[in-house]
Amino acid sequence: MRLVVVGATGRTGGEIVAEAGGRGHDVVGVATSSDSIEDVRVYPNEKLPELLVEADAVIDFTVPEASRAHAEAVAEAGVPYVVGTTGFEEAGLDALWDASETIPVLKASNFARGVQALLEVVAAGVEALPEYDIELTETHHNGKRDAPSGTANAILDAVDEARETELDRTHGREGDHPREDSEIGVHVRRAGNVRGEHELLLAGNDEVLTLTHRAESRRVFAAGAVDAAEWLVGKAPGWYDFGDAL
Ligand SMILES: NC(=O)c1ccc[n+]([C@@H]2O[C@H](COP(=O)([O-])OP(=O)(O)OC[C@H]3O[C@@H](n4cnc5c(N)ncnc54)[C@H](OP(=O)(O)O)[C@@H]3O)[C@@H](O)[C@H]2O)c1
Repeated sequence: MRLVVVGATGRTGGEIVAEAGGRGHDVVGVATSSDSIEDVRVYPNEKLPELLVEADAVIDFTVPEASRAHAEAVAEAGVPYVVGTTGFEEAGLDALWDASETIPVLKASNFARGVQALLEVVAAGVEALPEYDIELTETHHNGKRDAPSGTANAILDAVDEARETELDRTHGREGDHPREDSEIGVHVRRAGNVRGEHELLLAGNDEVLTLTHRAESRRVFAAGAVDAAEWLVGKAPGWYDFGDAL
């Protein structure tokens, strides 16, 4: 398959280029400037519409403002679109939803299979322990822009769904701040080169349950994104998530 990787020079994009090339796909890259990685040519962003003419699928791991613009170009070209970028404001998500009316769009805040399993386990754990206090901690490398992570938000949504309510998301605590029953604490750490860790803690009745996922390399995201692109080719226009591809 001919695959366009947008954000090819990035930490995750570079891994996607290597993973897709290793599977025998014909890969071209796009970034803000031209370059060359893993023997793959990387073209500047303005070239995207030309590259889309021959593309079978696009994988985009960039920044929300860029993905928002790419969504329009990819929809115009009619190419299946896998989006790993996180941290979207409402307008960026609207652009992706608009695109999904004409092309298949698969967006996931985490392409690790273990995180898909974690979301299911979270729902089961929260349902089984209805009165327990819940706190979420996530850790990422010091270059991550959005906080909390897209995966943290997906876990928080899963907790709300399981509790059938919207818990008050309390981002850190300081000073005189006793915990309310309606709260879920959200704690964000940024340090070093941590690929991504998420821990949900449930405590009550003199016991503690922790559910943790840790990505040990970015390859796990790359493999999931390429799996998603391979699956998305030939699908009807619409909105898909990584669970659909699995
Ligand atoms: N869904 C998942 O499983 C998952 C996993 C990991 C990361 N992510 C998300 O993926 C995104 C990228 O993460 P990262 O750590 O790989 O970031 P990164 O290392 O900073 O790389 C960002 C890439 O985007 C490119 N870029 C930036 N602005 C652009 C624009 N306007 N047009 C085209 N390309 C542009 C950069 O190109 P230049 O270097 O040329 O500027 C670079 O190639 C983030 O939103 C992150 O949260 C998602």
